Amino acid sequence: MSEENGFTLWFTGLSGAGKTTISHLLATDLEARGSKLEILDGDVVRENLSKGLGFSKEDRDINIRRIAFVADLLSRNGTPVITAAISPYRSIRDEARELMGDRFIEVYIEASVDTCAERDVKGLYAKAFSGEIKEFTGVSDPYEAPENPEVVIKTEEHPPEESAAILLAYLEERDLIPAAVAS
Ligand code: ADX
Repeated sequence: MSEENGFTLWFTGLSGAGKTTISHLLATDLEARGSKLEILDGDVVRENLSKGLGFSKEDRDINIRRIAFVADLLSRNGTPVITAAISPYRSIRDEARELMGDRFIEVYIEASVDTCAERDVKGLYAKAFSGEIKEFTGVSDPYEAPENPEVVIKTEEHPPEESAAILLAYLEERDLIPAAVAS
């Protein structure tokens, strides 16, 4: 594997599907192997690079294009990236794919609305169902699931550690990360 092996693991999925949790676990695994890594998390990006943007289609598209722009810069300079934003619209994800070509790896972090609402880690689904929050993805706003993602992680079937391990194995298989050092 080359030093300059940048790639973007583009996570997409509903709020509460597990994107952030899995990205952090995978980051720990990758760092343990000496790999560089940056995470572009939707919630974090919205506090700085995308501060002030809302959740209309227009604002989400701007947010995703910004994330894709930064992911492209980093990955083409050899830094692996995980993006963890809902990125609900297929056409903008496809734009990101076009921008990054072979470096773009779409990962569908799959969990149903019912499961995410049951988990409701941030208490947002309750507010979405009561109408307190409008345009909430999966409840009152669209989510377009990927049609041909490189990887699908069903988080109703796998605990987060297992999900991270599946992705690590995928990256190894594609020779994008250094092999584990035998102990
Ligand atoms: S995206 O649609 O533009 O990709 P992003 O991942 O950045 O979304 O932000 C989603 C996060 O914002 C959710 O995890 C949740 O914490 C919060 N959020 C607040 N309002 C909404 C909403 N209307 N729809 C979805 N997420 C929302």
